[in-house]
Amino acid sequence: MKNKLIYLSVAAVFLTFTSCKNETNSDSGSEIKDYNRKETNFEFDEKIDSLVAQMTLEEKIGMLHGNSMFTTTGVERLGIPELKMADGPLGVREEISRDNWSPAGWDNDFATYYPASGALAATWNTEMAYTFGNSVGQELRARGKDMLLSPAINIVRTPLGGRTYEYMTEDPFLNKKMSVPLVVGLQDNDVMACIKHYAANNQETNRDIYDVQMDERTLREIYLPAFKASVTEANAYAIMGAYNKFRGEYLCENDYMLNKILRDEWGFKGVVVSDWAAVHSTVKSLENGLDIEMGTPKPFNEFFLADKLIAAAKAGEISEAEIDVHVKRILYVLFQVKAMGSKDRVKGSIATEAHYQDAYKIASEAVVLLKNENNTLPLKLEGVKSIAVIGNNATKKNALGGFGAGVKTKREVTPLEGLKNKLPESIKINYAEGYLERYDVKNKGKLGDITLNGPVTIDQLDPAKLQEAIEAAKNSDMAIVFAGSNRDYETEASDRRNLNLPFGQEELINKVRAVNPKTIVVLIAGAPFDIVDLNQKSPTLVWSWFNGSEGGNALIDVLLGNINPSGKLPWTMPKRIEDSPAHATNSFPGDKTVNYAEGILVGYRWFDTKNIEPLYPFGYGLSYTTFAFENTKTNKKSYASNETITVSVTVKNTGKVDGKEVVQLYASKSDSKISRAAQELKGFQKVWIAAGKSETITIQVPVKELAYYNVESKKWTVEPGNYTLKLGSSSRDIKKEIQINIK
Ligand code: BGC
Repeated sequence: MKNKLIYLSVAAVFLTFTSCKNETNSDSGSEIKDYNRKETNFEFDEKIDSLVAQMTLEEKIGMLHGNSMFTTTGVERLGIPELKMADGPLGVREEISRDNWSPAGWDNDFATYYPASGALAATWNTEMAYTFGNSVGQELRARGKDMLLSPAINIVRTPLGGRTYEYMTEDPFLNKKMSVPLVVGLQDNDVMACIKHYAANNQETNRDIYDVQMDERTLREIYLPAFKASVTEANAYAIMGAYNKFRGEYLCENDYMLNKILRDEWGFKGVVVSDWAAVHSTVKSLENGLDIEMGTPKPFNEFFLADKLIAAAKAGEISEAEIDVHVKRILYVLFQVKAMGSKDRVKGSIATEAHYQDAYKIASEAVVLLKNENNTLPLKLEGVKSIAVIGNNATKKNALGGFGAGVKTKREVTPLEGLKNKLPESIKINYAEGYLERYDVKNKGKLGDITLNGPVTIDQLDPAKLQEAIEAAKNSDMAIVFAGSNRDYETEASDRRNLNLPFGQEELINKVRAVNPKTIVVLIAGAPFDIVDLNQKSPTLVWSWFNGSEGGNALIDVLLGNINPSGKLPWTMPKRIEDSPAHATNSFPGDKTVNYAEGILVGYRWFDTKNIEPLYPFGYGLSYTTFAFENTKTNKKSYASNETITVSVTVKNTGKVDGKEVVQLYASKSDSKISRAAQELKGFQKVWIAAGKSETITIQVPVKELAYYNVESKKWTVEPGNYTLKLGSSSRDIKKEIQINIK
C-alpha cells in the first residue's frame, strides 16, 4: 500500500505539471526510479511456517508442478488456492482447457488486445508502460488469475527472431525503463508479473536444445539489465526460466543464473516458473533454483517435480527442508497478491471501454512515420472522392495467430474499419485484397516450416487479385497499401528464414504505384524487414505494429493528422541482414551452440561502432512538426561517481502543429581504456509541445549509469575522465553535444 501511494504522488506531480499545458505525457526515462517498489514484507512469515508445518509431503509437492495447463495444486483444507496463470504479452489469453492446448470454449474470456511489446517500446513513454501493465492487471483479476506470464523482455538480438514482436527492443536501457513501470502497473492489481524468458533466450530455432555462450560483460551489460531492474526496482514476483541452455546448463536448472545471480545477488524472493516443458531433471532443477514446473500435455504426475520428486524425497535424495524452501516461496507470493483468502483483493474489470482507450493511447503513440517526402501526410482530403485501400493487411486481424499466446477479443479495429470509421462518407473506398498469405494452412503455427515452396511459392501474386488491385488504384484519387507481415508469419517456435517482405507485396506495390503515383505505403509488422527498394520508391512510408484492439483507429488518426506521430523505432532497421551483428559474425542461429560473437555490440551499438549505415536507425521517427534543441546544459562540469548529472535542454516546436518529441541522450567515451560501443542510450524523455512554443526539460543521469561491468573485479565500474553526452531525436540525429568529466 505504501508503494501505491508513492506512485500516486508521483503521478499527481506529473498531472499537475502537465495539466497546465492541457496535454500530457511529458515523461522521463530517468524519472522512472520513482516507480521503485522494492520492499521486503515479512508480515506473513509465521503464517507461512505454520502452514508448511501442517502439510504432507504430497501436498507440498502438488504446489511445485502443474496440475493443469495453467494451474498448480493448492491445499484446500488449509485455505491454499490453486495458483492460476495466464499468458501473456498482448493481453490476457483466452482460457485454455485444463489438460490440452485447445481453447476451453468459455464465453466470458474475451479480453482487450493490447499493442504488442515492440509497439509499446516504440512509444518511448514510460507512462504508457505503466498504463499497459495496470490495464492488463485489471483484466487478469477480472479473469480470477494470480500471475500474468509477461512481460517478455528478451533483447532483440536478430531481426529474424520469431518473437521479436513480443519483445521490446535491442537496447538494454530502453528495455529496463519500459519493463519496470509495466511490472509495477501490473502488480499494483494484486497479481504477479512473470518476467520472461530468463535469460539469453534470443532465438526460436532449436530453442529446446541450443546452448548460449557469451562473455560475462555482455551478459551483464546487454542481456540482464531489464531482468535485474524488474526484480530489484519493480519487485517482480515471478520469473520464467527459458527453454535453452546457458553455458552448458539448462536455464531451468542453472545454478549460476538462478541461485547465484537472481537470488544471491539481486535478492529475488519470488518464484521461478519453468517455461512449458523446459524442465530436464528432478533434484538438480530444484536445488539449482527452480520452484514450479509447468508443461505441455502429458499426465501431470509424470512431471519431473511430481511423482519423481516424491520418490526422490522418500529415497533421501533430497531433503524435505529443501522442498519446504520452494513451497514457502510460493506461499510468500500468494500472500503478497492477497490470494490467501483476503477480502480486499482487487476485483478488476475486463474489455471495458476504458481499457480499449488505454490500448488506443498506446497504439497512437507507437506508430512510426518513416518517410513523408512531399508532406503527403497528414492526408489532404479536399477534392478526394475515392481512395483505393489495398492489401491483405487492411483487414487482417492479429489478436490471435501463429503459435504463441494470443487474445480472444470482441474488438479489433482493422485499418479498413478505421478508415470507414474516420473518413467522410462522401469518400468512396475501393478495397482490394491485392496479395494472398501463402502458407500451408495445415502447418499454420507448426514449428519451423510454415511457408509454401513448390509450384505455388510464397511470393507468388494471384493474377486476379493483382488485377483487382490495379483497377482499384486506377479508378481512385489515391491509394493506400497496407502491407507487412502478420502473426502467422512472425511466430513463436520458429525464426524467419530471411528479411524479405513475403507474399509478393513489393511487386504489388510497384504495380499499384505505376497506375497511381499518389500511393502511400503502411507497413504492419512486429520486426524489421528488407524495405530498401520499397523505401527508395515510396515517398510516403508509415510503420505500424500488431497494435491492439484499437490499432486501426489509431493508425487512421495518424494518417488523418488527428494524432501527430511520435513513435520511434526501438530497434535498428538494417539495409541487409548481413549488416546485423549476429549475422555479420555468422553466429545465428548456430547449431547446438550459439556463440554470441558480437559481444556487447548488439543493435545500434554494432552499426555505430563499425560505421555501418542502417536503413533507419534506432530511435528514428518523424513528426508532422519539427523540433529544435536549444540551451543544452548540465548542472556541473565535473561529477563524482555517486552523483547524478542533470542535463537540461529547451525543446522548441518549430512547426505549425502541436506534437511530441522524444529527447534521447546517448553517452560516448572516445578515449576509453576498455572497448566500448560508439554510444549508448542513457536517458530519454518524451515531451508534448504546442506549435511555436518551447519546453525546458531535464534528464537525470546517475553517474553509475555510465559504468561498465568489470570482469576482473566483478563490479560495475565508472571509468574516470571525459565523456560526451549527446542529445538527439534519434541515435543518428544528434543535435547537441556536451562534455563532462567524471572524477
Ligand atoms: C512460451 C511461453 C508461454 C508458455 C505458456 C511457451 O511455449 O515460450 O512464453 O508463456 O508457452 O503458453
